[in-house]
Amino acid sequence: MSIRGADSMDGGAARGDQYDDESEDYVGYWEGRDYEHAAEIAAVKRLIGRDGARYGLVCEVGGGFGRLSPVLKEYADRVMMFDPSSKHVGIAHRLLAGHAGVTAHHMHPGTIPLDDGTVDLVSMIRVMHHLPDPGPTLRETARVMKPGGRALIEVANSAHMLNKLRYAKRLRGIPRRPVDIRSAAKAAEGGIPFVNHHPDTVVRQFAEAGLRVEEKLSVSNLRSGTLKQRLGEDRLLAVEQRIQSPLAAINFGPSLFFLLRGDGAAPGAA
Ligand SMILES: C[S@@+](CC[C@H](N)C(=O)[O-])C[C@H]1O[C@@H](n2cnc3c(N)ncnc32)[C@H](O)[C@@H]1O
Repeated sequence: MSIRGADSMDGGAARGDQYDDESEDYVGYWEGRDYEHAAEIAAVKRLIGRDGARYGLVCEVGGGFGRLSPVLKEYADRVMMFDPSSKHVGIAHRLLAGHAGVTAHHMHPGTIPLDDGTVDLVSMIRVMHHLPDPGPTLRETARVMKPGGRALIEVANSAHMLNKLRYAKRLRGIPRRPVDIRSAAKAAEGGIPFVNHHPDTVVRQFAEAGLRVEEKLSVSNLRSGTLKQRLGEDRLLAVEQRIQSPLAAINFGPSLFFLLRGDGAAPGAA
């Protein structure tokens, strides 16, 4: 598998290297979040392992420091992880050194440096919240997918149950457009976008990119300090695993995981 030269298809909308900033500590972010990490692993395994599936090449877009790369490798011959942050790719090199068949590479946002129709599964987790306009990245995802290949995409969900209640109290509906969740001060500083997406809107955007939803899970449904203390993380996780599928129908949780199938047409691809 050759890695193509990188020419951005995202119109320069996102710099994508903001995690290189000294103030960013994404590795530290995961301290105390064992439940969320385990809930995501459970969702990943359930979706990509569906029907006993195995994959040749898996490509991770915005793979960060490689937190989930070894999990993906359990289902694949090879995992190529890409991220625009040099700091994250550097950490991933160290973290993944002992993992045969897993490699970490730098990418420019909006460009996956792989040839058309070469990837069996594209995984993009915790990246959509940095993409107020995910269209170009979704089209790029479809471009590299083999005909009939799959994508696993996580979406920060603006229509989760707590938000529905908050909006209902104000007699308002959840906006269909992406919602900026940064504080006013953070937004004024500029920096990396942080948005939640409406599930109906992203499903339409998936379809426009030629990606059809095969299955959806609602994830991190019990994200609460009180519940963690009262139930303990093991019990919390056991419940979480039972409810990820049924609660997906009402978009309950803060995070939605979509398993998508490509139609092979790769609209918009060069
Ligand atoms: C919250 S981290 C998630 C990392 C990893 N997927 C995980 O779940 O642990 C977001 C990652 O997306 C990367 N990123 C930011 N903008 C991006 C873009 N436009 N395309 C791809 N990756 C991007 C960041 O560098 C960062 O490593």
